[in-house]
Amino acid sequence: MSAKSYNKITPDIITELKNILGARFVVYDDSEKLEPYSHDEIAEKAYAHMPDVVAKPRTAAEIASIMKLANRENIPVTPRGAGSGLSGGAVPLYGGILMSFERMNEILEIDTENMIAVVEPGVITNDLNNKLKDDGLWFAGYPMSLESCFIGGNVAENAGGGKAVKYGVTDRYIIGLEIVTPEGNIINLGGKIVKNVVGYDLIKLMVGSEGTLGIFTKIFIRLQPLPTGRVDLLVPFKDAETAIKMVPTIMTMGRIIPTAVEFMDQLSFQTSYKYLNEHLPHEDAGAMLLIEVDGNNADQLEKEYEIIGELCLNNGAIDVFVADNVTTEERVWKIRRNIAEAFMVYSPVQSLEDIVVPVSNIPKILPELAIIAEKYNVLIPCYGHAGDGNLHATIVKKPEMDRDAWDESLPRILTEMYAKTVSFGGTISGEHGIGHKRKQFLGQVLEPATIELMKRIKRSFDPNNILNPGKIFDI
Ligand code: LAC
Ligand code: ZN
Repeated sequence: MSAKSYNKITPDIITELKNILGARFVVYDDSEKLEPYSHDEIAEKAYAHMPDVVAKPRTAAEIASIMKLANRENIPVTPRGAGSGLSGGAVPLYGGILMSFERMNEILEIDTENMIAVVEPGVITNDLNNKLKDDGLWFAGYPMSLESCFIGGNVAENAGGGKAVKYGVTDRYIIGLEIVTPEGNIINLGGKIVKNVVGYDLIKLMVGSEGTLGIFTKIFIRLQPLPTGRVDLLVPFKDAETAIKMVPTIMTMGRIIPTAVEFMDQLSFQTSYKYLNEHLPHEDAGAMLLIEVDGNNADQLEKEYEIIGELCLNNGAIDVFVADNVTTEERVWKIRRNIAEAFMVYSPVQSLEDIVVPVSNIPKILPELAIIAEKYNVLIPCYGHAGDGNLHATIVKKPEMDRDAWDESLPRILTEMYAKTVSFGGTISGEHGIGHKRKQFLGQVLEPATIELMKRIKRSFDPNNILNPGKIFDI
């Protein structure tokens, strides 16, 4: 716990919040209405914490007033997007004010000439892309929760997702931000300019800051031309290692950077099949790859997926399914997108990880994970963004293991998993962040001097430690 203690929310503070926002947008004294704001998508309730009050601002000015109030009264404020996070980043660990952006959901501008969208933080990622389609544009972020997550959360977590092999992650596309600072000042960084070297790059610092350094109220997103064609290949393999070894082969021998190379081991895709009531041939395959290519030239696209299909078949693939229309493409992606959700339903006592290693080390880390699973008598199914070396190893309690043994084992399993990851040149989170779920392990990957530097940055932005305290590290 942080050494710092905070003041309680008083009736006077509630009155002041109501004066700022209007009474309808201040929720308190109603545990049923507050509960949904106490957790993110982590299945384990131990990571949840109730807010004292939920504030639903509509404008940057309202947020600035709330931050000034919170600093004056020593009340913590936790910003929250859609709550689809997986590291507890949006959990109000010390109670206080939970700030929800559900009302700030406007697409303010689509500037087709400059290929930039200006949005509020509460816009659902997929809604933006649906709106951009007619203009032949898109935002190349593709988090697996794209149907529910907010862009503000994507920026706060520097969300990765399924198309990062070719398009990179969120930070590549964020070129401007309007921010309310933790002390309640409204500042503007960047804008519609694609090159900008004036001063420190605070935009990059904000992206991925997990809601600890500032509150985004306007986000300038660089857009891409929407490719006219795309093809997805679903490729079953006899085992996980054979599948994973395809990743560098596609890029070096095939000389193709695919849009996506997603990996699913047997337990992962079978669990998703069960959840979706899906049936495809080769349900007993050891692993599957989902490979996507996109482009504007149909002949070129065909050539590329044929090269990839051929390479797969020559390197241990059992079969290659081609999905080349919207219905089948959506069908295969749905299997991949729903794995996390499916495990949460069938195996809620679990820890969903997002370790990342250099791509060439994925085949080496998989057997190590199997050894850890065996040693602690847990399951560790694995799926994820193989093209980026980013694996969702999910530690799952077996039914016969009792709860106390699980609680005692989990930190040791995580410590060992993270140590292995680091020994392969990797790190402990590729996209879900540290939040409060992983802060006890930060020292396993960052040097003390690095952590101290980060803490100094936090202190300079937020001297009273008001904004999202207890995340990434304790101050
Ligand atoms: C996914 C989430 C868990 O890739 O990051 O499914
Ligand atoms: Zn992921």
